[in-house]
Amino acid sequence: MTRSVGPPLPVGHTVAMKVVVIHQSRTGNTRRAAEFIGGAAEVAGATVTVRPATNLDYKELAEADLVFVGTWVDGLILLGHRPGDLGKVKQIPKLWDKRVAVFMTHAVNPGQAANKLAAVLEADGADVVAARSLNRRHLAVEAPAFATEVLASVGAFA
Ligand SMILES: Cc1cc2nc3c(=O)[nH]c(=O)nc-3n(C[C@H](O)[C@H](O)[C@H](O)COP(=O)(O)O)c2cc1C
Repeated sequence: MTRSVGPPLPVGHTVAMKVVVIHQSRTGNTRRAAEFIGGAAEVAGATVTVRPATNLDYKELAEADLVFVGTWVDGLILLGHRPGDLGKVKQIPKLWDKRVAVFMTHAVNPGQAANKLAAVLEADGADVVAARSLNRRHLAVEAPAFATEVLASVGAFA
C-alpha cells in the first residue's frame, strides 16, 4: 500500500528565495493581504516573514531577495488617491537596489495610489517590479495571485 505524505509540491517550486512582506494597516485589510502574499510565497518555497512597518528586522531586510511593501488607499474615493500613512511607510529603511513589489488595499477605487507609492520607493533607490491595489473584498483571491505573478516575474520559478 502506498501512503500519501502530503500534497505534491507546486509546479515550478522556487529555490531558497528570501521574501519579506511589510504592511501598514489600520483596520486589518492590508495585514490580511500581507499574510495571503506571504502564504503564497511560502507555498512556492520561499523563506518568508510578514511584518508591520513598525517592527522591522533590518538584518532580515538587508538579506531579502524580494520585499513586498503594502499600505491602504487614502483618498476621497473619486479623487486624491494616495498611499495611506505614507509617513510610516517612509520610515522603512531605503531599499537600495532591492526588488520591491508594492501592494495596497482599497474599497472601491484606488486611483493611482499604488503607482504613487512605487514612485516614492523608486526615488529612494528601490527596483520596483510591480505595483497593484487589491480589492479588500477579494483579498483571498487577488493577493495570492499577485504574489505568484511577482515571483514569476523575478524568475523565482525554476
Ligand atoms: C480616510 C480614508 C480614506 C479612504 N479613501 C479611499 C479611497 O479613496 N478609495 C478606496 O477605494 N478606498 C478608500 N478607503 C478604504 C481603505 O483604503 C480600505 O478600507 C483599506 O482596505 C483599509 O486598509 P487597512 O484595513 O489595512 O487599514 C479609505 C479609508 C479611509 C479610512
